[in-house]
Amino acid sequence: MFSNGQSDNTPPILEVRDLVKDFGGVRAVDHCSLDVRPGTITGLIGPNGAGKTTLFNLISGFHKPTSGTIAFLGRRIDGMEAHETFHTGLVRTFQIPREFKQMTVLENLMLVPANQSGERMWTSWFVPWRIRPQERAIERQALETLEFLNLAHLKDEYAANLSGGQKKLLELGRTLMARPKMILLDEPSAGVSPALTELLMEDIRRAQEETGITILIIEHNMHVVMSLCDPVIVMSEGKKLTEGTPEEVQRDEEVLSAYLGFAVEGGE
Ligand SMILES: Nc1ncnc2c1ncn2[C@@H]1O[C@H](COP(=O)(O)OP(=O)(O)OP(=O)(O)O)[C@@H](O)[C@H]1O
Ligand SMILES: [Mg+2]
Repeated sequence: MFSNGQSDNTPPILEVRDLVKDFGGVRAVDHCSLDVRPGTITGLIGPNGAGKTTLFNLISGFHKPTSGTIAFLGRRIDGMEAHETFHTGLVRTFQIPREFKQMTVLENLMLVPANQSGERMWTSWFVPWRIRPQERAIERQALETLEFLNLAHLKDEYAANLSGGQKKLLELGRTLMARPKMILLDEPSAGVSPALTELLMEDIRRAQEETGITILIIEHNMHVVMSLCDPVIVMSEGKKLTEGTPEEVQRDEEVLSAYLGFAVEGGE
């Protein structure tokens, strides 16, 4: 089923079971269950308000589930705080990039030191001076990451001056600096020019191939989904509607009707 040759019975790296999230009277995630296989670039698509970002917030520990479980590498993570989830090797980006505008591109990357363990890895996101003893090694890694992303020419630019697409690349770079096992990308191509989208896709693909990480991507751009992701999971009204190859999902009438908001021919 998967183009990377893995069989369906490879143990999942991420298991979401019967997850529910209520915000007051709004049920954003509604008994959602899904698996992500290791080494895949899995797409997560669905109409606006389907619960995709809320699911990311639950997985990454930014929100607590109302009920249900989440396991990463076989270990429960649903009770964890965001920094604890980060330490397990599961790192996310935000729908709106959260760069530090008054810092240079290089400094932004250096806030995420890779060779540290425990709490410091997280606190250094907020307390940059703590990383000083390891600064050189971190700077080297940051420069390598910028080279990898073809952003090296912008290393001394203030993050505030980057284009929307360059900020998305920087955000990807910040996740890679943490040397994660899995990354969650929320709409990486939103607000990004077509040329930079191609670069971003290439970077995501290479990052997966070269490091073996698992990537889960929320994306509305179908060109990105179809050319980058396999499998594709479709969410609608807070739960998984279906899952398949990009081609299977594209042909699925239920998916079409979820997007259009009404049943297509033959439907109810
Ligand atoms: N913090 C919150 N408080 C209250 N309601 C929320 C909150 N976050 C999300 N919701 C609601 O939960 C539902 C799912 O929202 P969510 O942002 O997860 O959707 P999405 O699939 O990411 O949509 P989009 O594609 O537009 O980004 C929506 O009805 C939204 O209004
Ligand atoms: Mg969203």
